[in-house]
Amino acid sequence: SDLCAQGKVQGQRVFIRSDLNVPLNDAGEITEDTRVRASVPAIEMALKAGAAVMVTSHLGRPTEGAFKPEDSLAPVAQRLGQLLGREVPLIADWVDGVNVAPGQVVMLENCRTNVGEKKNLPALAQKLARLCDIYVNDAFGTAHRAEGTTYGIAEYAKTACAGPLLSAEIDAITKALAAPARPLVAIVAGSKVSTKLTILQSLSSNVDQLIVGGGIANTFMLAAGLNIGKSLAEADLVGDAKAVIDAMAARGADVPIPTDVVVAKTFAADAEATIKRATDVADDDLILDIGPETAARLAEQLKKAGTIVWNGPVGVFEFDAFAHGTETLAQAIAQSPAFSIAGGGDTLAAIAKYGIEDKIGYISTGGGAFLEVLEGKTLPAFEILQKRAAG
Ligand code: 3PG
Repeated sequence: SDLCAQGKVQGQRVFIRSDLNVPLNDAGEITEDTRVRASVPAIEMALKAGAAVMVTSHLGRPTEGAFKPEDSLAPVAQRLGQLLGREVPLIADWVDGVNVAPGQVVMLENCRTNVGEKKNLPALAQKLARLCDIYVNDAFGTAHRAEGTTYGIAEYAKTACAGPLLSAEIDAITKALAAPARPLVAIVAGSKVSTKLTILQSLSSNVDQLIVGGGIANTFMLAAGLNIGKSLAEADLVGDAKAVIDAMAARGADVPIPTDVVVAKTFAADAEATIKRATDVADDDLILDIGPETAARLAEQLKKAGTIVWNGPVGVFEFDAFAHGTETLAQAIAQSPAFSIAGGGDTLAAIAKYGIEDKIGYISTGGGAFLEVLEGKTLPAFEILQKRAAG
């Protein structure tokens, strides 16, 4: 096995930190298991190499030292067991020692219930490190957190390295943002500029085209002097939106502003949808999607892109009458020869709705971690592994 690209894995105790923070319904059932499925290759690799395997993750944001039944990874251990085709025992108390034999895999209960995990207390990190010979971080979704199981253990473990999922995510992001085939086109959409302002600012110094959508586009339309009626927007961020447009223009890059939009009088699935020129929006209109002319123009540009980064739907795609823009761009991304990377909950829902999973170059398992990468931030959990690798 090339796990940790190092010699001996056979008989070694391997501690794998995955991100198995999956959504559960009220009955405690997993409603979306992508992260569990994505954790399988690292675990299988370690098992195949004859390691004694421990897997852990956080689930939710529990109170440390106060374990509650709803904090349990039990449904995750069961799902992982189904995927691996073998029993995955769940160990409740494990910080002071784990009994696991070579060729076996156990799941260690929600690591965020351990005292000191969130603050990465050295006393906990040192204990975690003593549990294993090899620490493998495969948790891209938690790589923006410097916690006991994502950072501290990596400092103290005998050997520490990135697992296949974390490596693949970092490779895809590097290919998309650090060394992209150009033109590099980013779609940044969603309800608010405020939650994505740093992403827009960071991308404005790199991308060749910045497609905005949703409430974000409304604020950019305001910045372009257009009336947006009663649409969702942040008037106080119009200056920031202008600055992004100017920064892009100064590089000869472009932020396309919609030339037509789909409006309604109310925010509802059955609201009557009307296509209007962007210059004709009435005071009582709500913009709920980009118009067909805008969507077709953007789709042409996506088909000519070298790299596409996609975060956020450009309209209220949950309502069929306002889904055309998002669907058109999704299909264009699917048909484009560009390398594409997508991430974020709503984006993944759109990808699933249009059935284009196989046509996206890379779908990130990260939520906050993916957004932080787009902001240009470094990921502490990956940095410590690089530091360890450098000696
Ligand atoms: C996520 O769901 O984005 C990750 O699992 C990180 O979770 P956190 O925001 O609770 O650290």
